[in-house]
Amino acid sequence: MDSTPKYNEKVVRQFAIATVIWGIVGMAVGVLLAAQLLWPALNFDVPWLTFSRLRPLHTNAVIFAFGGSGLFATSYYVVQRTCSAPLFGEKWKLPAFTFWGWQAVIVGAVITLPLGLTQSKEYAELIWPLDVLITLVWVAYAVVFFGTIAMRKVKHIYVANWFFGAYVLTIAVLHIVNNLAIPTSWTHSYPVYAGAVDAMVQWWYGHNAVGFFLTAGFLGMMYYFVPKQAGRPIYSYRLSVVHFWALISIYMWAGPHHLHWTSLPEWAQSLGMVFSLILLAPSWGGMINGIMTLSGAWHKLRDDPIIRFLIVSLSFYGMSTFEGPMMSIKTVNALSHYTDWTIGHVHSGALGWVAFITIGSLYVLIPRLYGRESMYSVKAISLHFWVSTIGVVLYIAAMWIAGVMQGLMWRASNPDGTLTYSFIQSLEATYPYYAVRLLGGLLFLAGMFIMAWNVWRTIRPQPQPATASATATA
Ligand code: HEM
Ligand code: HEM
Repeated sequence: MDSTPKYNEKVVRQFAIATVIWGIVGMAVGVLLAAQLLWPALNFDVPWLTFSRLRPLHTNAVIFAFGGSGLFATSYYVVQRTCSAPLFGEKWKLPAFTFWGWQAVIVGAVITLPLGLTQSKEYAELIWPLDVLITLVWVAYAVVFFGTIAMRKVKHIYVANWFFGAYVLTIAVLHIVNNLAIPTSWTHSYPVYAGAVDAMVQWWYGHNAVGFFLTAGFLGMMYYFVPKQAGRPIYSYRLSVVHFWALISIYMWAGPHHLHWTSLPEWAQSLGMVFSLILLAPSWGGMINGIMTLSGAWHKLRDDPIIRFLIVSLSFYGMSTFEGPMMSIKTVNALSHYTDWTIGHVHSGALGWVAFITIGSLYVLIPRLYGRESMYSVKAISLHFWVSTIGVVLYIAAMWIAGVMQGLMWRASNPDGTLTYSFIQSLEATYPYYAVRLLGGLLFLAGMFIMAWNVWRTIRPQPQPATASATATA
């Protein structure tokens, strides 16, 4: 008798395909924003297409729709395989509810954000009815995920599940606390916090959204898919456990680095800075653990473009988690804040780390989900890798140079104390870099189209080979 549990792969497939689709949508909006910064007329004087409304649409689409769907897909896949148990809650259709509920949230965002309906909290813009829906979906997600762990057939809980578990739990807490609000209508509400407290709660949320959504969840992906594709065990299991506990206990305290030089108490700013600096250690521990998993199989970097995606994502993870602590130093932040340096940092994390690890993991996952031996075209994966690597490098290098230049121009002063440059002069000086960023974004988006084509060719029903049918008839 076959003792393999009947895994729920349908919901994994749905989320995996949604990841590719939302990736294209979210990044296309990013490209439009990049173009608008160069040619403001591209909003066509249509209110729905203004930068201010499309920017939150971009961030919500790439973080929650693209990244979120990728996290749902991989966490559902990994938890079933590593626990030898099918997804919990199938009886009540909970996994399907999380899929359709999450898509409903995204569609809600796509409608409300261009209409200008927002709570005005960054990364928590969605209006309160959508926040309620998110809470319901997330509770169902937690029941499915932890229920599956509780039903596991193996004693051990694999480290990837620790990271996924921390992300599921923490996002629930962050979402609920930051969105506590008093509704005044179906589309409007007031936050229960005020002033500096509101700002602190918002950036405690914002930074931990980075730490637990954009980092812990994707580290869960890393701990499963890197060893899987490398065909080797994780470099050090002990390091992964230390990495986990250090990361989750330090991240929570770093939020105030988003509020340097504001009315937040000085001691809170310094606390945020110190914890951000300490955060470098566990982050690099994780990066080293992932990259060293390849030791003894370095040649795969040459032969396997999927491994390239996975390992290069870790290099970007290392880079952005080095840069972040540096930017959290108050004197450095005095230069970087408000400039495009922040945008460069964001996208070295978002494109280089988050998007690369997701893309690499999907290339491992998709053939397995559809019973194929590999992706349709390995050459196309390689092309995707190079196009997007050049894209990220152009994007972040342009923003770093632009950012440092802006910071220096804004603070330059004449001997009589007047400013050397007007704001408009700094903007004019930035234009060439905006053009380079647009090119980088276009390349990255082109890579996503290559991926979509490859995925489609891989999953479409395979035509019967002509010779086989000819033999059958004969
Ligand atoms: C050790 C890890 C990290 C530290 C200490 C850190 C620190 C920082 C600092 C100091 C800022 C600038 C705040 C400001 O001036 O407003 C920032 C912004 C940001 N970082 Fe990081 N960072 C880290 C890793 C990452 C990673 C891996 C990602 C993405 C995957 C990321 C995403 C962001 C985002 C989205 C912002 C912009 C927030 C906003 O103002 O909207 N960070 N980070
Ligand atoms: C083709 C790819 C992409 C392009 C062209 C692009 C472009 C942009 C642009 C033009 C902005 C506004 C910058 C500004 O206000 O000056 C932006 C903001 C942002 N993008 Fe992207 N983006 C892309 C992909 C992504 C991905 C994949 C993620 C996350 C996984 C992401 C996360 C963000 C975040 C968090 C911000 C807000 C940063 C902040 O407030 O400091 N982007 N993006």
